[in-house]
Amino acid sequence: MGRHHPSHTLDANFIRFLTIYVLSLYRTSVYATGDTYVFDDRAIADILGVQDYEGLIRKVCRRAVQSPKATYLLMERYTHINGFAGSSVALLAGNIGYSRELFSDQSVQPEGSSDRGMMIAPKVLAATLDEHSDHVLGHASHRTLAQVCLNAIAAYARLSVAERSILDRKPPCLLALVEQFKDTYRGTAGNAPSLVRALGYHLASEYLADREYQIKDEEIWFRYPDEKFRKTVKRGRKTDGTWFGHWTWVTVHGHFGTAEGDQGHGVEHDHYLSAVEALKAAAKFRPRELTNDEMFSLAVEGMRAFKDQWTAFYTIVLDEIEANTRECHSCFLPSSAASPWISDQQNPDQCSALR
Ligand SMILES: [Fe+2]
Ligand SMILES: [Fe+2]
Repeated sequence: MGRHHPSHTLDANFIRFLTIYVLSLYRTSVYATGDTYVFDDRAIADILGVQDYEGLIRKVCRRAVQSPKATYLLMERYTHINGFAGSSVALLAGNIGYSRELFSDQSVQPEGSSDRGMMIAPKVLAATLDEHSDHVLGHASHRTLAQVCLNAIAAYARLSVAERSILDRKPPCLLALVEQFKDTYRGTAGNAPSLVRALGYHLASEYLADREYQIKDEEIWFRYPDEKFRKTVKRGRKTDGTWFGHWTWVTVHGHFGTAEGDQGHGVEHDHYLSAVEALKAAAKFRPRELTNDEMFSLAVEGMRAFKDQWTAFYTIVLDEIEANTRECHSCFLPSSAASPWISDQQNPDQCSALR
């Protein structure tokens, strides 16, 4: 992971369009200082509609903590889809580096020496080094941390292997969403619009993940009324700031800052800053086929796609929890217009499993 703090200031030409674009749609904090336009966290938050997104996450968390099995279900779904993120980031970095013909310094001749994909790819890759091997945490992968966390939650919920296997079965709509997530994230080598869109998707992923983990730590671990959860799923921090305990998978990514006297940022915020730098480099060495306007439009498209897909993810999980905590027969009722995700394909075993 890159624990550095690059500037939020992006390439002036790229941001000039961004400023016009964003200002035309939102009241934002994009502003001009001389010739440099600044695109800060608030502008990204506006594009992503972060308040609504956070509200949905809080709602799902508060619903999930009402039952140990629902808590397990939320975290099982989250660890499942998130387990593809680190690999997807690596694939995106590889696809950018692989597309030698796309990202170049157009002032350099001969053209064969102008390839600058490797000025972008490492900034993407920086966001997944710790996902594969976190040097602060004994070189554990974050997927391993997620498994440790989920196993502890299963112990808290007193779930047998057979019960977990039932709860782990996912509705088709959620599995389809996971495939969409994987496809969009990695982009397609040699396809400039796909890769720029994916860079926006990646930026949104890291930005929102920082908030998601912070909210999970706050809502599930701290505000949870059941002391047994905190006794079983342990959360701790050494004096040097290193996390330990089963809940480390959450806290290392983002934590409840109020409890720690800090901003609550973990590695996701560092990943986000690297993603901003990657987008800045992509704008600097933009593909010949794309104008600045098109670059930015595609990046924003990718950001919005992430928000939309993950809003769908949390909506599906919320509906799974709601459906499975109603009376058993309700599991087979048609879904409401606002909640189109639960169908008559819902696993009937899940119904009794969550009550
Ligand atoms: Fe991670
Ligand atoms: Fe990340």
